Parts: sequence; structure tokens; C-alpha cells
Amino acid sequence: MTERSFRILLLGGDGVGPEVLNEAKALLETIGEPAGARFAFSEALIGGAAIDAHGVPMRDEDVEAALNADAVLLGAVGGPKWDHLGKTERPEAGLLGLRKALGLFANLRPVKVFDALANNSPLKAGVVRGSDLMVVRELTGGLYFGQPSARTTDESGRHAVDTLPYHESEVERIVDLAFRLAGSRRKKVTSVDKANVLNTSQLWREVAIEVSRKYPDITFDHALVDSCAMRLISRPRDFDVMVMENLFGDILSDEAAVLAGSLGMLPSASLNGRPPRRSGTTAALFGMYEPVHGSAPDIAGQSIANPIGAILSASMMLRFSFEMGEAADAIEAAVGQALEEGMRTVDIATSGEVPVSTSQMSSRIRTLAVAQLSA
Ligand code: IPM
Ligand code: MN
Repeated sequence: MTERSFRILLLGGDGVGPEVLNEAKALLETIGEPAGARFAFSEALIGGAAIDAHGVPMRDEDVEAALNADAVLLGAVGGPKWDHLGKTERPEAGLLGLRKALGLFANLRPVKVFDALANNSPLKAGVVRGSDLMVVRELTGGLYFGQPSARTTDESGRHAVDTLPYHESEVERIVDLAFRLAGSRRKKVTSVDKANVLNTSQLWREVAIEVSRKYPDITFDHALVDSCAMRLISRPRDFDVMVMENLFGDILSDEAAVLAGSLGMLPSASLNGRPPRRSGTTAALFGMYEPVHGSAPDIAGQSIANPIGAILSASMMLRFSFEMGEAADAIEAAVGQALEEGMRTVDIATSGEVPVSTSQMSSRIRTLAVAQLSA
């Protein structure tokens, strides 16, 4: 097998971010050789860590380093220490700026309920078991970046405004990606909007219908975001790929996380639909990969964070950026096996179960993944 080599930028960030990222890195180092790939890692700061060291949530040169990597693996940003800072100075500004600078318009958030955790959700096991859906969130438009966005004060009092703009081309590319993803899944797309109220949602729906005509073999429907929020937890198995604008996706993806039993389980990928910028790379698509969970400052430094979200993010990186589907399958199967064996970090341990540490969970998954790969 010819060995391929990839450059990965690690952005640990804050709180548990660096802890879980270390485990994802360890997994990649272990699985590289049997999977026929070599990974070269570099590191940079983002979020509160970057504010403390450099005075900004991410330096331009580090954004540049991200642009020159084949893929970026990120931990999490934010924490109470930086909560007093204004919108453009906060840790979150580093992440939002990076998404924008890298043009990462497509945020993929798969939610798969592992059988072993069907009883972990506060929802009934019979409702969540077998759920396997993917939230495709538009990531560089809508309310997060629309102008005007401002706070002002005049003699009448305080005002604030945010703006929700979408161009048809932005809707087209994300909906199209959702249809292509559905093609390799259960062939169903649900487009989520608020077309009974919002202009942007009416445009979204029109464009989604136009795109759907290119994919006659994919089942397609629309859902209004409010009733969709309800169906997502009452009938989650109805959904395969769900595509929606930025803020709807932010909200519904956290809601969907309840199905999985813990936010700590969930990975994400953010794509710009293009190969990496650097020439000569064999990477297929550039992407940034991060667990959906936040920096969890309350448990940082205790080695108890669930590394699975970060590990599954690394697995998505292998699948989408490096075309290493077999290794990605092995990792996902290993996670399932570790859970079947009863390995539980504290966030997924139910009463009577003795929780394992971050590194115990991670090292078991590594062992099982390598065994899977050579099986
Ligand atoms: C997420 C987070 C971010 C977002 C924050 C940290 C800016 O909640 O990735 O979902 O709102 O996009
Ligand atoms: Mn969020």
C-alpha cells in the first residue's frame, strides 16, 4: 500500500478542548500505520487560550496555518474567564472568524444512537433506539453574519439588531450537499424552515424545491422549524438528512443531541466543498472537525471528559477529507464495541456504573479500532 501523508492543524482551545483533542490525536497516530497513512501535526491557539497568550481570539497567522493544512481538528472554545468580553473579542469570535475565513459553509452534525446508550436519553428508549440522522447546518450565513448587526443607545433607550440574509446561491450549495449526502445514507432529505413567516425561509424553500428536482431518487419534504423541533424528539427515526439555516441548525443540533444520551458523544465536520489549498496534497476535501460539545470548564483538568465526540470527529476527518472510509468505519465500530463492553465516561454512566477516565475510554477505543482494521 502506498503511504499517503496529511497535515493536520490541532486547535485545542479551552477547557476540556485540549484534553479530548489529545485523545483524537493519539487515535490518529495509532491508526495511521495500519491504515496506510501518515499524519503530521502542528498546533495553534484559539479562543480564550489565544486571548491570554496573544490578546486576540485567533491570530491571522494561525488562520493562515489553518488554510495551509489538509484538515483542522478543533477542541472547544470559551469559558467564564472571558465572558465579560464584547462580541468581537470573545473566544467564540475566534471560532466564528475561522469558519468564515475558511469558507466552511456546511456543518455536518450526525446524531447516531448507539444501541448500548438507548437507555441513556431522558427520552424513552423505544423512541430513540435506532435513530441515525444528520443535521446539515448552513454555517457562514444567516443571523450569525448578517449586517446590520449592532447595539445602540439613544434617548429612547437601548436597541439591538441582527439580520438574517440569504442569497439563493448560499441556499443552493448547502441543500445540494444535503442531497448528495442523503444519496449515501437512507435517501431522505428534510428541509427545515419557517416559510409561514420569514422571507428568507420562503426563498430557502423555493430553492430547495428546485434543487430536489435534480435528485428524483431522494425522498424530500419540508418541515417548519417549530413543529420539526417537536418531531425531532417524538419521532426521531423519521429523519435522515435535515438541512437548515445557521441558527435553526445551532438550536436543533443541540436538541438532537439529547437522543444520543450526551452532548459528549457527538462529532461534527465543517466543509467548504473544496480540496485543500496546498498543492500536491492527496487530501480530497478540506475540512474542520470538532466535537459538538463546548469547553465544559466545570470538568476541565479532571480527565473525565468524554473523548468520543472528538474521536468521532477524527473519524469524520478520515472519511470526508482523506477518503479513508475503512479506517473511519473501524473507529465507529470500535466506539460501539467499547460502549457494549460497558465503558462509560461520567456523562454517560448511569447509576451503578463505575465511570472510566478520558484516557481509559480512549485507549480502549484505540485498541478495538486497530483490531477492527486488521480483522
Ligand atoms: C456551536 C456553538 C457555536 C455556534 C458558538 C460557540 C459560537 O454553539 O458550534 O454550535 O453558535 O455556532
Ligand atoms: Mn451551538
